[in-house]
Amino acid sequence: MKTQVCIIGGGPSGLLIAQLLHLKGIETILLEKHTREYVLSRIRAGVLEHGFAALMREAQCGERMDREGEIHEGFFIAHDDRLDRMDLHKHSGGNSVLVYGQTELTRDLYEARERLHGAVIHNVEDVRLHDLESASPHVTYSVGGATERIDCDYVVGADGFHGVSRKSIPADVLKEHEKIYPFGWLGILSRTKPVSPELIYAKHERGFALCSLRSQVLSRYYIQVPLSDAVEDWSDEAFWAELKRRLPSQVAQQMITGPSIEKSIAPLRSFVAEPMRYGNLFLAGDAAHIVPPTGARGLNSAASDIYYLYHAMLAHYQRGDDSGLNGYSAKALKRIWKAQRFSWWMTTLLHTFPDNSSYDKRLQQTELDYLLSSEAAQRSLAENYVGLPF
Ligand code: APR
Ligand code: PHB
Repeated sequence: MKTQVCIIGGGPSGLLIAQLLHLKGIETILLEKHTREYVLSRIRAGVLEHGFAALMREAQCGERMDREGEIHEGFFIAHDDRLDRMDLHKHSGGNSVLVYGQTELTRDLYEARERLHGAVIHNVEDVRLHDLESASPHVTYSVGGATERIDCDYVVGADGFHGVSRKSIPADVLKEHEKIYPFGWLGILSRTKPVSPELIYAKHERGFALCSLRSQVLSRYYIQVPLSDAVEDWSDEAFWAELKRRLPSQVAQQMITGPSIEKSIAPLRSFVAEPMRYGNLFLAGDAAHIVPPTGARGLNSAASDIYYLYHAMLAHYQRGDDSGLNGYSAKALKRIWKAQRFSWWMTTLLHTFPDNSSYDKRLQQTELDYLLSSEAAQRSLAENYVGLPF
């Protein structure tokens, strides 16, 4: 087989760039190791920056997102038995975020790919990238026991943190930066009315908690737990009781509890791989970077990768201009590191760190006091949370 751009990974990053390129007549083939059902079974965060939402609309995939998504113009920080609202709309010059589940967003992207009869090959195994430094790289993989080959101009590695693409960059070229946090997030999904119309990020001596939502009938809650915890250690009743302990009493009293329909623990890490280009391989999304979920930057970090790569490939195919491709890695990393900083800052601000000294704890409290008392600090938070410009 031959195509112009071979995309590895059928998550939101791979599907979005496939859709954008396809709409401009650029041929793509997308390879995904799992089934579509498996991909759509993943529970992920659901806060979209306005830049990501705009890309979805440009990809002709924004109709249900705009119909069912909720515009949020602020969120709350809970601390010392009280709530303080961060006014994103006011402090970002009129911007907001869209709350819309990533599972639904990925479903919309798959359906759009199908409508355009875009090629998605599922259940691929043993994907290998070849001759990346040549002008004609190719990808081999096996499916149903047969080995296949795709010749292409470019490979987009959108295969996530555990994918093959980043690992195809030689060790003497690739530089990885990582920070592991000493705790995880235990999250549940429940068919209950959310306790608050806007998200609540809670700082408490017992640990961080987050009240989020997928819709007015589907709630998403998290509590910080030690890395030694296993999901089996947490009954639904134990989860609800601990969540309430970490929230202001006025919120805890209004909490509607119910059985969990999904419950899992995720570790928190910050990770960046550099460079994001090697020959004719371009990394995008989780394949190149991971953030702790505190700042809701995960999918949104992928947005600028996709935006830059899409426009760079368009310039190449339409005008023979390779400046975007040549500048992709440096430009993408510049914005990625700002998302890394913000995610690290929010995580450090709101979580309980077991090894913090008394000085660290006072400094953390002072950081929160400064945020709550400074419009300049709230403007900084707001511009990062709604999304820095591409
Ligand atoms: N071959 C083909 N597909 C692969 C391979 C491989 N060797 N390895 C992984 N994949 C697939 C995975 O099955 C997954 O569907 O690549 C896809 C990568 O998707 P994500 O991990 O969701 O990464 P991305 O599309 O960049 O989306 C980033 O996902 O993890 C969240 O917080 C993150 O919200 C962010 C978003
Ligand atoms: C979520 O709804 O899953 C969510 C929202 C905001 C975050 C993290 C996760 O910062």
